[in-house]
Amino acid sequence: MAILYKSEARRGAEWARVFAEKRPDLPFRLWPETGDPTAIRYMAVWVPPDDLAAFPNLEVLFSIGAGVDQLDLSRVPDHLPVVRMIEPALASGMAEYVVWSVLSLHRRMPFYLRETRGGGWGQQPLREAESCRVGVMGLGVLAQPALERLAAFGYPLSGWSRSRRTVPGVTCYAGAAELPAFLAGCDVLVCLLPLTEETRGMLNADLFAQLPQGAGVVNAARGGHLVQADLIAALDAGRLSAAILDVTDPEPPPGGDALRAHPQVWLTPHIASMTGWRSAAEVVLANIARHESGRPMDGVVDRARGY
Ligand code: NAP
Ligand code: GLV
Repeated sequence: MAILYKSEARRGAEWARVFAEKRPDLPFRLWPETGDPTAIRYMAVWVPPDDLAAFPNLEVLFSIGAGVDQLDLSRVPDHLPVVRMIEPALASGMAEYVVWSVLSLHRRMPFYLRETRGGGWGQQPLREAESCRVGVMGLGVLAQPALERLAAFGYPLSGWSRSRRTVPGVTCYAGAAELPAFLAGCDVLVCLLPLTEETRGMLNADLFAQLPQGAGVVNAARGGHLVQADLIAALDAGRLSAAILDVTDPEPPPGGDALRAHPQVWLTPHIASMTGWRSAAEVVLANIARHESGRPMDGVVDRARGY
């Protein structure tokens, strides 16, 4: 039996060291060197090989990422458990990005950078954190530590999820019926939803129209959540003040794409957070130990929900 790793090679080299140290009995194969495909019992991938059927003894498909939309679950046999990445480096990286982007929008940094680079020196009144309401779509593993850190600044916080959640210090909304009330209270809206059939295209004109005038938007989830033309129209109309996007569809956006040139859009190249090297290998090893001793693994994807 063996594990096949198919993702960034530098991280793979670190995983190979961790596996050699902690599970010398479990050979570690780095894609495309699969060895005998019938020996592959586990895979850790960003995107799986085209022909999963060539690995008939595969028992668990581990996602290198927290999200699993890139796996195209429709190609993964139903019987095969898919396990997403839940590990501390991903959570702390995302919390840093969310704090940075919320502070940037609250303190109007897109405006001030444009202003000073354009030769101006215009100032606007300082808006207190207590009057800048921040709402996070998604109240999962990545959203909750981010909200915890945002609380230190004094922002009134809210969150929206599919099922009812309770998060200390956060006004929680749930389901489609409570979405309008949630949106009406977001001066800065942060998207940390998984990309599913239900959430694709959610950041659209209808949603922007429900935000307070001049709200800022952060998308650190997936590019597929955003209807790009609707965002540009909302920015151009002054309905939204600025957007910070870590993800786009496609990635990267083509040269000349309207997002790249828009003065009220800040783009980052899908770096909001990154799966840790050693910490993620250790999390996968712990899940393999659970699987081998018949205990439930942490992060098993609900195939019906898509996350
Ligand atoms: P998670 O723990 O599964 O949390 C997802 C949250 O979204 C949950 O609160 C869930 O509600 C909510 N949700 C799902 N579908 C919904 C719907 N239809 N309506 C309302 N709420 C819904 O996920 P996570 O680990 O926090 O990760 C979130 C996403 O971040 C990932 O899927 C990935 O796409 C993205 N990500 C991006 C980066 C980056 O660098 N840009 C890095 C890592 C991850 P319930 O609580 O009711 O289940
Ligand atoms: C990164 O985007 C992830 O899903 O972990």
